Amino acid sequence: MLRMQDISKIYRTDLIETHALRDFSLRVGQGEFVAVSGPSGSGKTTFLTIAGLLENFDTGTYELDGRDVSRLTDDGRSRIRNEKIGFIFQGFNLIPDLDLFDNVDVPLRYRRMKADERRKRIESALDLVGLASRMKHLPSQLSGGQQQRVAIARAIAGDPALILADEPTGNLDSLMARQIMDLLEKINDMGTTIVLVTHDPELARRAQRNIHIVDGLVIDSPPYEARESQRAARAGTSPD
Ligand SMILES: Nc1ncnc2c1ncn2[C@@H]1O[C@H](COP(=O)(O)OP(=O)(O)OP(=O)(O)O)[C@@H](O)[C@H]1O
Ligand SMILES: [Mg+2]
Repeated sequence: MLRMQDISKIYRTDLIETHALRDFSLRVGQGEFVAVSGPSGSGKTTFLTIAGLLENFDTGTYELDGRDVSRLTDDGRSRIRNEKIGFIFQGFNLIPDLDLFDNVDVPLRYRRMKADERRKRIESALDLVGLASRMKHLPSQLSGGQQQRVAIARAIAGDPALILADEPTGNLDSLMARQIMDLLEKINDMGTTIVLVTHDPELARRAQRNIHIVDGLVIDSPPYEARESQRAARAGTSPD
């Protein structure tokens, strides 16, 4: 699904250069659920913005869904981004004066999609996150967890192949965080690849694979199955 090879990203200001990513290489398979963690400033958000084609990089190659996206025009990148990627951020990024229906409609409007097709998708996305009955509410009339669920509905309404989530539970209590994780697992079960940045070890453990980013470098742990059989071998039992 995602294949990055030796990506480096340098932020330059008048005073300093920051190597946000250095020789960053990572593959994420179709249908995987990967959790990404690492210290503050290690490059996690930078990785997501590059993965999501929101930001360019300096060197290296990036293939998304089998296609080289290293050197696309801005238009080409927006088109692929809009078709293939759903974003979920910590701060929800909902538009305060649009109701839930219209918020979820925002990314769909960028596509040439008929109104009744959009309506169908919006309704089923809001239904999946359990907010179908609140379509006419404003974000301010919802709890934090509910707002995050709207953001998830907006991310999935376009039926993306890849969801990129940056600390989507950072502002939520642990019960709500778990519910958001349940929802992401459900979306993953339906076939969507998910990359989730989280500081929460309990949530990270639930992913199939954990990746650590330190100083702009990826320290990739083995896939879930390999980890389970290692653990079983250590414990002297076989994995079930
Ligand atoms: N637009 C920018 N201009 C200059 N430097 C930047 C910019 N964005 C990020 N950086 C720098 O790049 C490095 C990586 O930042 P990034 O936001 O990717 O970290 P992070 O791992 O997401 O941290 P956190 O856990 O705090 O969100 C940091 O040193 C940061 O200061
Ligand atoms: Mg960040």
